[in-house]
This record gives sequence, structure tokens and C-alpha cells, in this order.
Amino acid sequence: MAMELWLGGRLATMDPTVAGPYGAIEDGAIAVEDGRIAWIGRTADLPGDLARRTAARHDLAGRWVTPGLIDCHTHIVHGGDRAAEFELRLSGATYEEIARAGGGIRSTVTATRAADEDTLFAQARARLRPLLAEGVTAVEIKSGYGLDRETELRMLRVARRLGRELPVTVRTSFLGAHALPPEFDGRADAYIDFLSAEVLPAAAADGLVDAVDAFCERIGFTLAQTRRLFEAATARGLRVRLHAEQLSDMKGAVLAGQFKALSADHLEWLEADGVAALAAGGSVAVLLPGAFYFLRETRLPPVAALRQAGVPIAIATDCNPGSSPVTSLLLMLSMACTYFRLTPAEALAGVTRHAAAVLDLAASHGTLSLGKAADFAIWEIERPGELAYRVGFNPLYATVRAGRPTSA
Ligand code: NIG
Ligand code: FE
Repeated sequence: MAMELWLGGRLATMDPTVAGPYGAIEDGAIAVEDGRIAWIGRTADLPGDLARRTAARHDLAGRWVTPGLIDCHTHIVHGGDRAAEFELRLSGATYEEIARAGGGIRSTVTATRAADEDTLFAQARARLRPLLAEGVTAVEIKSGYGLDRETELRMLRVARRLGRELPVTVRTSFLGAHALPPEFDGRADAYIDFLSAEVLPAAAADGLVDAVDAFCERIGFTLAQTRRLFEAATARGLRVRLHAEQLSDMKGAVLAGQFKALSADHLEWLEADGVAALAAGGSVAVLLPGAFYFLRETRLPPVAALRQAGVPIAIATDCNPGSSPVTSLLLMLSMACTYFRLTPAEALAGVTRHAAAVLDLAASHGTLSLGKAADFAIWEIERPGELAYRVGFNPLYATVRAGRPTSA
């Protein structure tokens, strides 16, 4: 592919080696070759030979450019919805009570098992489109609503197909340990064995698994069960991550840190030992303000302690039918700032650089830097902080993926 130049933009590189909170380069230029950033800097510093080799020029006209946004925690592939459960919660039932009564995740499992691959694909594509319309160029998608071999693999195949057919990089997480399926009632340990010995190996053999996730919670799996699954994942050379400390302090983050997990996610109930373990393990803390909002949680994740310990913070939609029916990552930026008191620069790092690390894509994505994928979003804004400021307004001008303007 010939060299193309994007000139006259204000670049929020999010690259920590570039000074300032957003790693900003005013009057910046990006040269793209073979889908990668071949040069980046001030337009005035553009090397002459590079300008001569250029086949096409695009004028950014002073617009802000950020890395393509990354939604690093979603359950976007699932059957049905849980609007009725939302109404139940409004008349007083809690999320945990509904789950214990056989609703919650299990009701989405029933709907997902009943849906064929094309149906799951069409429904997930419809949810993905509003994210792509906000400049998202990479997304994580979990299994976890099948809880049997066939449906878990079907969900992951749908996730891979979304990555093939839409302009987005998809990374998958195997979340077989999301809830206990009815066939295994009272036999959670046997279910972990079944996942470790049968479902995970089958999914991994088909190239469907980029990471392994679990729900460590009173209504999920115990710490010991989570550890056994992590051991099985690690034995296969797979990285782990964990739904931890969402509704109670199960010490999931301590375990995650010990396994050098890519991330621990939710974390409203995280204590000092968990913060220290995440720091020691090099894990990212993924905060999910949509679930906090939708479940009307009141306990805040310990943002100050995470900052102080140097744990990177990512932000994601957690798009799922039960706790976060959210398809706007920009809204999550706003909520991360208003609810969790992140700065807009921290929030933006949470959907770019730190989100890339969660997906094990830090070497190739997440910042506008030499050699990385030419995935970027172009915005009609006056300052990057506006991305976290407005509610319900989308200032995206265009998305570029691997050097090419996209249309979804
Ligand atoms: O991330 N906490 C567990 N899993 C999801 C919710 C899943 C559901 O309720 O369907 C979450 O919040
Ligand atoms: Fe989740």
C-alpha cells in the first residue's frame, strides 16, 4: 500500500512518552503505510522524502484525532433481553435475589441456547454499530451465556465473525465460568472440571479463545474454583482476567494479581490487599460505570488507592442484558468522571492505552505511535476533555482503521 498522509490535525496521541496529559501534538501529521503508522509528529517536521513518496493527502482541518477507542469488556453476543427483570428490580427485587431465583444470567442462557448463529450475529451486530459510530475500533467479546460446549463455542464463533465482517478488531474471552448451568445444580466443582477438561480445550483448539475470564462472586464461583480454572487456563498458555469484587470482597483481585491477570474488572468492593496484588501482578483495573449505574450501586471502586499504587485503570461498557445494557463508550467516559472522579484524560487513557493492555494489544494498539496500527478516530471537538463532557451527543467526524476510513 502506498504512503498516505493525514495533515493538520491536533493529535491526542495518548502516548506517555509525549509530554502532557493527552500526549498532544498540535498541528500534527500521521503518515500511514501498510495499515501502520509510518511517521507521526508535527506537520512542520515532516521529512521531505516522506512527503515525496506520498500517494494521497487528507486534510484534518484542525480536528482532534485520538487512537481508535477500545471497549475492553463486553458481553455483546447474547440472546434476548432482560427488560422484564429491570422492571422487577424497580419494584424492589435485587440483582442477587433475581439470580438466586433462577433468573438473571440463567434467563439469558436459555435465550442464548435457543438462538442460532445467524440470529446471535444479527443481534450483536446491531449492538456493535452504535459503538463503532463512536470511533470504537477494537472490542472484547465474552462467551458465558451458553454454559454448555455447543453454545459457548457458538458465541465465540459469532464473536470472531463480527471481527471478520465489521471494521473492528475482536478479542475474545472464554467466560464459561459465568454462572452454574441447571444441569450442574449443586455440582459447581464438577462444572469447573467440565470447563477445564472439555469446553475450554475445544474452544481453544478452534482458535476461539484469546483469554479466560470468570465470575468470582457469591452468585458465581468461589475463589478456589476460580483458581482451578485459572490453573487450567495457564497450563494452556492462556492469560486470565476476572470479574472481581463486584458485589462483595471475595479476594478475587488478590488471586488475579497472583496469576498476573490481564485485568480485574468491576472492583467496587476492592480492598487494599487487592490493590497491592494488582500492582504486583501488572494487572489493569477495569471499571464499569454502566453496571454501577444500572444496578444503582453506591460503593465506589477505590480509585485513589489504585492511582497511588500505579495500577492502570481502563473503562468499558460491560454491554450485557442484565447489569449494563449500554452501547455507548462515550457515556462511560462521562460516568467514569462524574461517578468515579476520573479526570477526562484518565478516562480517555482508559478506553485507549490501558484498554489495549487489557486485550494484550499494547504493542500494536491504544496509542498513536510509530509502528502501531493506523486506527484512529477524528472528532469535531475543541479539546479532548469534551469526549467525557457531553451526554448523548456524538462528535465523531470519521473513523480510520488500518489506514482506511471505515463505514459500518
Ligand atoms: O459483568 N457480573 C457478571 N457478569 C455481568 C452481568 C451478566 C448478566 O447479568 O447477564 C457483569 O456485570
Ligand atoms: Fe461483565
